[in-house]
Amino acid sequence: MTPLEQVIIKKSTQLNPIWIMRQAGRYLPEFREIRSMNTNFIELCLNAELSTEITLQPLKRFDLDAAIIFSDILMLPYALNQKVEFKKNFGPVLGDINLEEMLKIDEVDFVHKIHKIYKILNNVSKNQLLINKNTIGFVGAPWTLLVYMINRQSPKIKLKKDFFKDQYLINRLLLVIEKFLKIHIKNQIDNGATVIQIFDSWAGLLEKKDIPNYIYTPIFNLINYVKSLKVPVICFPRKIKDYKEFCDITKPDVISIDYNVDPKEICKKIKIPVQGGLDPKILLTDKETIKKEATKYLNIFKDHPYIFNLGHGVLPDTKPEMVDYLVNIVKDYKNK
Ligand code: CP3
Repeated sequence: MTPLEQVIIKKSTQLNPIWIMRQAGRYLPEFREIRSMNTNFIELCLNAELSTEITLQPLKRFDLDAAIIFSDILMLPYALNQKVEFKKNFGPVLGDINLEEMLKIDEVDFVHKIHKIYKILNNVSKNQLLINKNTIGFVGAPWTLLVYMINRQSPKIKLKKDFFKDQYLINRLLLVIEKFLKIHIKNQIDNGATVIQIFDSWAGLLEKKDIPNYIYTPIFNLINYVKSLKVPVICFPRKIKDYKEFCDITKPDVISIDYNVDPKEICKKIKIPVQGGLDPKILLTDKETIKKEATKYLNIFKDHPYIFNLGHGVLPDTKPEMVDYLVNIVKDYKNK
């Protein structure tokens, strides 16, 4: 069993595996070099050779326990023929939705458009660097994808007033998203993903009354689907107000927490394995602070099955040296 599986399946508290959200990305000079020569982000995600290399870059540098494949949650709308572009210093920009055309897309069309992603998983999972480690496949949660598909860019702080105006469109889209997310998950697992993480980055935007409909129900369906394929599933409902209720209702194998919640409260209330929490901004400070803050999480979750990670993605200005320092602190903690 890999270190991650010991924590997730055996509920071991003897070790703290670590991987980092957005570990394959912009804080690494070797990534920036590839990125500067490949200005189209989607094309880069579909370049199996380069994306395999990017996925493995952090594992070559740091003693991490998992690779997360270099891809994006927005490859799903892309595969559904919605235009997706990544604008420099702005983020993603999506095109209009043609619902009628989208409803005609079948599994073959969908897989054809993004089959290179599955090739990357195949390559990565067979690489020597992955011995006794996990290859993490991932998807965006239906709600977060709906936000991008309707809003057509990151929502920043709030949703537009008329976001829920076209209920027919929203309900149709949710069904399409759920159907193709299952196909995407199945293909990732068939090609070597041994863990699936579901990113619900915009879970915090919803009012309490809307959470069951847009988060609990679709995520519960997806979690059950992943479980039926016998692969563990980690959920990251970022900034959701009630993590405990989320876990009780949707029943993921692991809950990944953001940096706004009190880890002590989480540890007390939630019985399933926990992942993450450390504020990514801590990695921009100094070694002393990193050690102090990382040790805080390690101490709190000392007797709880815990996978070390951040409370959101690693920031672009992070020095790779600080990531290395963090990984070593986590690795040494229970080895003493
Ligand atoms: O290392 C990894 O974690 C794997 C790769 C990965 C990327 N995106 C690559 C990427 C993963 C897991 C994601 C998930 C993702 N993508 C999420 C969920 C996690 C989160 O951060 O909340 C979301 C919301 C997206 C959508 C997205 N993609 C945005 C908003 C942006 C622009 C801003 C940003 O975060 O960089 C992207 C672009 C993107 N995805 C980059 C990378 C490395 C930057 C591309 C560049 O070089 O410009």
